[in-house]
Amino acid sequence: MSAALFDPLDPATLADPYSAYAALRASLPVAHLQDHDLWMVTRYEDAVHVLRNTETFSSALGMSATIGSHSAPATGVGYRMGVSGVRVIIATDPPEHQVIRRAIRPAFTRQSLVALESMMHELADELVRGLVERGAEADFYRDVAEPMPVVVLASMFGVPASMHEEFRRWVSVVTAELDQGFDGHGVGRGLDMLRYFRRELAKRRTAPSGDLLSVIAAASDVGLSDHELLAQCVFLLVAGVETTTNLLTNLIAALSEHPEAQDSLRRHPHLLSSAVEEALRYDSPVQALWRSTTRPTELGGESLPANARVLVAFGAANRDPARFPDPDRFLVNRSPNDHIAFGSGPHLCIGSRLARMEVKVVLKALLDRTSWISLRGAGTRTRSPIVRGFVSEPVVLG
Ligand code: HEM
Repeated sequence: MSAALFDPLDPATLADPYSAYAALRASLPVAHLQDHDLWMVTRYEDAVHVLRNTETFSSALGMSATIGSHSAPATGVGYRMGVSGVRVIIATDPPEHQVIRRAIRPAFTRQSLVALESMMHELADELVRGLVERGAEADFYRDVAEPMPVVVLASMFGVPASMHEEFRRWVSVVTAELDQGFDGHGVGRGLDMLRYFRRELAKRRTAPSGDLLSVIAAASDVGLSDHELLAQCVFLLVAGVETTTNLLTNLIAALSEHPEAQDSLRRHPHLLSSAVEEALRYDSPVQALWRSTTRPTELGGESLPANARVLVAFGAANRDPARFPDPDRFLVNRSPNDHIAFGSGPHLCIGSRLARMEVKVVLKALLDRTSWISLRGAGTRTRSPIVRGFVSEPVVLG
């Protein structure tokens, strides 16, 4: 395959990128996509090398880069989180990165999450009950996958239950605006949320209450400015909400397409965790993310110049036959399964435990309340080379 034949924005590739990834991985594992001014990395081993070598592959681009051709610059496929001078965890390199990460980590320990578990079970049960009651109108995205992560994150932030609906509206406005490109100076209708965060962060600084906002507020002690504290709040929403929604919808699609896997899961519920891991590998919610080279380097037999934009394709690496036997099969009992859907190296997803827990809780509620689930029609997919999931997923439940 020639790099010119691979277009990450081609609607057919966006609908199903896996055969195009396979062709690239086999013949051009580090492909220079000239039209898009980027190097795409599709092999597992190369992807892990990039993610772990922070001195050569910087995270400075964060999620700010976009994919577009010279003739048709793209919008809606990248998040412009970068405002010069404002440090966001995902867009920093060591040693600065460790300082921010260490400050935020206390909110994501096992103990912090155990405190959320019963709330998650209640919420999942209520949402799945609602889904079942919808009957022929049931939409797994709208009724379960979209609300679950927002409400869980709202609780973590310490937003009172009476404000959860309002918070959901703010989040949907902010993520929609980020999809359109965000320069960080104004988020239009999302301003209400920023005002709320600013006010609550100030309160938590004088009276911490153990929630996520208190943890973030305390990060001013390690030198984060007020603007940076707000930026971490917005980034956590961006990082934690849509990704988990996508994983939930991708998992349901995979179970629907693979009746034997669904059957096996219903008969052997101890496979719940490994089914979630397989969904992460098989149809990764984050398909790709950015790095940039700090100096000229060799990768996969190619010579990359300094300041090259590198797109690490997690979705392709997770289907690499050199790492995963039968990579295109969805096997709920796959073991080992060392996918990199949560990344690898110093930026490894800080919310992975939370996301796994949420998805397992939802899956359990779903298996308990149904004897069958399948997609009604094809649903509607996201259309981005960066994130992959559904934005509507009608289902039939038995
Ligand atoms: C299925 C759901 C999720 C997926 C697939 C996912 C994926 C990822 C990936 C691939 C990275 C690595 C980024 C890089 O190397 O540049 C990452 C980082 C991160 N994720 Fe997640 N994520 C998920 C859920 C969450 C949740 C629920 C949260 C928090 C509420 C979260 C917060 C973060 C943060 C803060 C980082 C940056 C860590 C750092 O830079 O050190 N993620 N995530």
